Amino acid sequence: MGHDALAQVLRQLPKVEDKNLIAGTEHADDAGVYKLTEELAVINTLDFFPPIIDDPYTFGQISAANALSDVYAMGGVPRLAMNIVAFPASLDLSILQEIIKGSTDKLKEAGVILVGGHSIEDKEIKYGLSVTGLVHPQKVITNAGAKPGDKLILTKPIGVGVITTALKSGKITSDDVQDAIESMKALNDKASIIMQEVGVNACTDITGFGLLGHAMEMAEASGVSMIFRVKDIPFFPIALELVKKSKNHPKTIKSNKEYLAAKVNVLDSVTPEQANLLYDPQTSGGLLISVPLERSQKLLERLSAAKVSATIVGEVVEKRTPAIVVD
Ligand code: CO
Ligand code: CO
Ligand code: CO
Repeated sequence: MGHDALAQVLRQLPKVEDKNLIAGTEHADDAGVYKLTEELAVINTLDFFPPIIDDPYTFGQISAANALSDVYAMGGVPRLAMNIVAFPASLDLSILQEIIKGSTDKLKEAGVILVGGHSIEDKEIKYGLSVTGLVHPQKVITNAGAKPGDKLILTKPIGVGVITTALKSGKITSDDVQDAIESMKALNDKASIIMQEVGVNACTDITGFGLLGHAMEMAEASGVSMIFRVKDIPFFPIALELVKKSKNHPKTIKSNKEYLAAKVNVLDSVTPEQANLLYDPQTSGGLLISVPLERSQKLLERLSAAKVSATIVGEVVEKRTPAIVVD
């Protein structure tokens, strides 16, 4: 859920015991899931952040896709959403209208109804949504089910943190990175439906803690370890160039790296640029899916037929130290 070091504080919330709580705070999972009846569970999540891109309409689209993603990661169907708005009194309200228009268009694409929200005045724009989704209690996909022998499948390329940082500092323009912007705007809906149909063991979406941070959470929650093959991990080529040239990386790369230092072994076969991007904070990133070997080809074929870019990036092994190896 949370996307930076502050989230570590929120993760120290007291453990909640409730027989109907399917997913809470214990596994750093993507959203809370609560069983209402034997056939129905409700999923709750929220996300909001300052603009990562100049165009307000595009920012609204990306914010909505990002907020819905935690529901898709758990195999659910998002139904309702509410706006979370912080907006400076000094700015033209047409900017906010464009953000909301981008967001509601994206929600419409997802079949989600906007039912309200809350706004405050603030020094800086922030926008996001709380989202309510539904799922069958027996079909919840958490980050805790990965098993040795599983293949790990990633559904979007990595590097949008470095790219949006370079956009903000004016090093590149949005024309240079249309593919990354399209990727952030893309819903994880198709991947979610397909993984439900094929049957998978675990899933999470890749956001603020980067590929390795969210992989680590899945490994810990599942009691397993993971081996990634860097040659199979899709990176945006421009992100590799930017991270090579610039010393001005998103500061979250550094904090993610420090947080994971004891748990991750990145071997010499990985270039420094690739290594940095493994920790790059993603906005509206793809799904990381842990699927049994015998269903992995079927999952890849179904995703490819639905025009979802998906690749096998690694595999799950018995628990060992360090928990994550990148070769
Ligand atoms: Co989240
Ligand atoms: Co998430
Ligand atoms: Co209110």
